[in-house]
Amino acid sequence: MENSTFKAMIVTENADKTFSREIGEKRISDLPEGDVVIKVEYSSLNYKDALSATGNKGVSRNYPHTPGIDAAGTVAESNCDRFTVGEEVLITGYDLGMNTSGGYQEYIRVPENWVVKLPENLSLREAMIYGTAGFTAALSCYKMIGNGVTPGDGPVLVTGATGGVGSIALSILVKAGYEVVAVNGIVDETDYLLKLGAKEVISIEEADDQSGRPLLRPRWAGAIDTVAGNILSTAIKTTKYGGSVTCCGNVGSAELSSSIYPFIINGVSLLGIDSVNCPVDTRMAVWNRIASDWKLDHLEAITTELDGLEALDERISLILQGKNRGRAIVKIG
Ligand SMILES: NC(=O)c1ccc[n+]([C@@H]2O[C@H](COP(=O)([O-])OP(=O)(O)OC[C@H]3O[C@@H](n4cnc5c(N)ncnc54)[C@H](OP(=O)(O)O)[C@@H]3O)[C@@H](O)[C@H]2O)c1
Repeated sequence: MENSTFKAMIVTENADKTFSREIGEKRISDLPEGDVVIKVEYSSLNYKDALSATGNKGVSRNYPHTPGIDAAGTVAESNCDRFTVGEEVLITGYDLGMNTSGGYQEYIRVPENWVVKLPENLSLREAMIYGTAGFTAALSCYKMIGNGVTPGDGPVLVTGATGGVGSIALSILVKAGYEVVAVNGIVDETDYLLKLGAKEVISIEEADDQSGRPLLRPRWAGAIDTVAGNILSTAIKTTKYGGSVTCCGNVGSAELSSSIYPFIINGVSLLGIDSVNCPVDTRMAVWNRIASDWKLDHLEAITTELDGLEALDERISLILQGKNRGRAIVKIG
């Protein structure tokens, strides 16, 4: 098997420091050391993939490189007890596609502890529709709910709700019986957000308090934030007594400024979300919820399927221009 060739996206750094991308051939022996070789059926496209595919050294330091932070497929070779050949598995996070050769190729080789057995009732294709964005959304809901926020406590705010993480978090919460208030994007997407099940849609301005007051009228039982900056500060100071706010992203800002009062007067919890190194028990628990009671009915409505590695180019440009909508998956196998 070591000498068999397969198709891969290869990003190369040129002598003049520019980067070029081609669909070329690799051998299994080119893959990094690892316990499990996986034949990839599907991968997905995330913002990090677009950065890695265009030479962003904050994401991928060394080139030539094959991006793809998500992969789902079947075990082709196993040097561990946990996995057998032919078993269906998925991987999101860890170092896949960052500084380890990623999912935009027909085979990957990874350490066994990165690999999750595909839950029952979820196909490889569906797993990649969720991918890192969907897993992060579900992990945010899991942590907020685990910290005691129940549907009876009142509405939950979702910021960045038109994005990959936000729209899946909104949909999961609606499915779990929560009343969700969604923050619109820069372009008005009210109809889309109402269709996903939001009870109410508010503007970015309404979610971005400029009064400078440390506490505001309590409105939310909890909040799922993907934006950070003043939108996260506003969510924290409008959360009710004992509520929980999760934060996973920084599309608005990398800063967070807050007085201490929401925490010491209202007992609000701020919960950090990391999908990359999330421990395996939590990872399995979240994927099992995704595949069972949180499984969404409208997955196809948010999905674009790209046919083969060649089709990724156009979508990578779109995502870098901020024009991506919903989830893009790529059929590889
Ligand atoms: N912690 C983790 O493990 C983890 C995992 C995955 C993703 N993330 C992070 O989570 C964040 C969201 O990811 P995503 O895939 O959902 O991104 P996305 O699809 O690009 O969506 C971003 C959302 O935020 C909105 N937005 C952008 N800039 C804004 C601003 N200045 N003020 C208010 N809203 C703004 C967008 O609205 P428009 O459509 O109008 O622009 C959109 O609704 C990113 O920062 C990503 O890096 C973290």
